Amino acid sequence: MRDAVAIVLAAGSGERLGLETPKAFVALRGRPILARAVAAALACQGVGSVVVTAPSGAEDLAHAIVEPLGAHAVVTGGATRHASVRAALRLVPDEVDTILCHDAARALATSALFAAVLGALEGWDGVVPVVPVSDTVKRVREGAVVGTEPREDLALAQTPQAFKALALRDAHARAAEADVEFTDDAAALEWAGYRVRTVPGEPHAFKITTAGDLARAERVLSEARP
Ligand code: CTP
Ligand code: MG
Repeated sequence: MRDAVAIVLAAGSGERLGLETPKAFVALRGRPILARAVAAALACQGVGSVVVTAPSGAEDLAHAIVEPLGAHAVVTGGATRHASVRAALRLVPDEVDTILCHDAARALATSALFAAVLGALEGWDGVVPVVPVSDTVKRVREGAVVGTEPREDLALAQTPQAFKALALRDAHARAAEADVEFTDDAAALEWAGYRVRTVPGEPHAFKITTAGDLARAERVLSEARP
């Protein structure tokens, strides 16, 4: 059944990438990051439609990129990622019971990952893809090591993340009320007391943050299709 709505977050400026163009519009092997992310979402059978958050002033550009793919809702993002999610939530009809949140910057996440998080949602409020931590993680204060985290308890979170719509809406409303910010949506649900589970993430679903990440994504694509 194609009934989930995917929110694709693309309203950031990409400050750490350091290009003139907002990150989501940067071409990756000739195709904008945003187009790749939206195409992966829509290629997943369970996804019925996509809502895109765009930087203020770049809504038309976002629309021009995603409309041919079949995604027609574009909304102006907010000052923070959370504010962007809340803006997108206002466009998702109340009768939709499953919502995915995805960073456009994870341009190489596959439609199989969308399917995996959707498929694992039954009996939970949220699902987050994770990959293991391979480095040893130190807790550091003012240059001094004050602890070493047990690595087997740690994981790196990715997107797409899948949620029961009511839980996602409630967690975001409460976080906004309490004026707390998180770097992903699962964290808002955890904070609000909801049950979030994990599924295995994908090595290539890393977030394109820096120029090095962009170069890595280009390499991945050229190895896949020389
Ligand atoms: N995002 C958003 N609205 C914001 C901030 C971020 O929709 N106000 C989106 C970004 O477009 C990105 C995703 O959230 O796809 C993850 O954010 P991040 O990687 O931090 O992207 P930017 O904020 O664009 O990058 P930077 O922090 O380097 O400026
Ligand atoms: Mg950011």
